[in-house]
Amino acid sequence: MQAVILVGGEGTRLRPLTSTVPKPVVPLVDRPLIAYMLEWLASHGIDDVIMSCGFLATSVRNVLGDGSRYGVRLRFCEEPDPRGTAGALKFAEPMLDEHFLMLNGDVLTDIDLTEQIAQHRRTHARATLALVPVDDPTAYGLVHLHDDRSVSGFLEKPSPDQINTNLISAGAYVLERALLELVPPERNVSIEREVWPRLVEHGLYGYPSERYWLDLGTPARYLQGTFDIIEGNVRTALRERLGEGWLAIAPDAQVHGRAIPPAVLERGVVVERDAHVGSLVVLGQGVRVGSGATVERAVILDGTEIGPGCVLRDCIVSGGCRIARDTHILGGAVLAEGVTVGADNVITNGARIFPGVTLPDGAIRF
Ligand code: GDD
Ligand code: MG
Repeated sequence: MQAVILVGGEGTRLRPLTSTVPKPVVPLVDRPLIAYMLEWLASHGIDDVIMSCGFLATSVRNVLGDGSRYGVRLRFCEEPDPRGTAGALKFAEPMLDEHFLMLNGDVLTDIDLTEQIAQHRRTHARATLALVPVDDPTAYGLVHLHDDRSVSGFLEKPSPDQINTNLISAGAYVLERALLELVPPERNVSIEREVWPRLVEHGLYGYPSERYWLDLGTPARYLQGTFDIIEGNVRTALRERLGEGWLAIAPDAQVHGRAIPPAVLERGVVVERDAHVGSLVVLGQGVRVGSGATVERAVILDGTEIGPGCVLRDCIVSGGCRIARDTHILGGAVLAEGVTVGADNVITNGARIFPGVTLPDGAIRF
């Protein structure tokens, strides 16, 4: 079976992680974010994948290549202007088979696609949406089902007073190409607002799932997704690398302090004396952690240097940053690529520091 992955969004809510890299190729643990989706598809025998791109398509292509590393064959389809979730599919129509999967490119999940496809065939549906329960459905598409799993209502981004179920669309659909008759060509069309509502009671079905599911669209959820991958809460290809000890340390990494699982330490990492890293930590290639520093519940990307005595907790620090001694980075803070922070700063409360910024010693207690 074929799959189309929509990756044309700008990823604004994930800034500044997406200020320099498009969302599909933002690094997540040890591979591009979209690799988890490709490996999940491949594990269900889906190896013909079309990436529907808009924003910065060339860099996505450069990172992913032909997809063979992830067990799929990749093709790219670029809209001339953003067409929306249904418009993008319409644009890709000449490449599509009679039945195919469509996926939102920003979710981390291990939903059983094989079962979802089987249900789609059994019910002779025109579209089958994977559904998952969430605590707050306001950011998603709310779905009501009849007992036979046909959809009785679809409401995109409901207001709090419209919520009377917790089942939402997971952004994974089995579709019939014939559906595209409903989509006008060459304009921006939203599948959620203009197509699903018209299919209610006309061949739209839901496939409720209890499996792991997370929309990775914000820094907090990006961190949560990282932790869930390295804790094994979601089935991913990384499980093997972590082994029984839940610790993946590259052979040439030097750990003079302590590494507490689950944690991933890549090639060239150096953890100095009395420093401790973990639990729930990813240190990218060449990251250096100075003596006596603490790094917990954090992602530190390639080449970043952390000075002695620093405390980094619940934060994301992109590649190529320099953090001088005794600085604290906490509370959901996110640093973009190439940020320099002087000594004795405190950055917290979800602060987002943009690419190339330099903060002098003792400049902020945020
Ligand atoms: N090619 C292309 N062109 N892709 C697009 C476009 C476009 O114009 N607009 C959005 N996309 C891609 C995004 O990159 C993303 O992967 C996917 O389509 C969904 O867009 P989001 O902007 O992330 O939507 P959302 O998260 O607010 O809501 C969607 O996902 C929820 C589940 O996470 C909806 O489908 C909801 O119904 C659903 O519950
Ligand atoms: Mg999304």
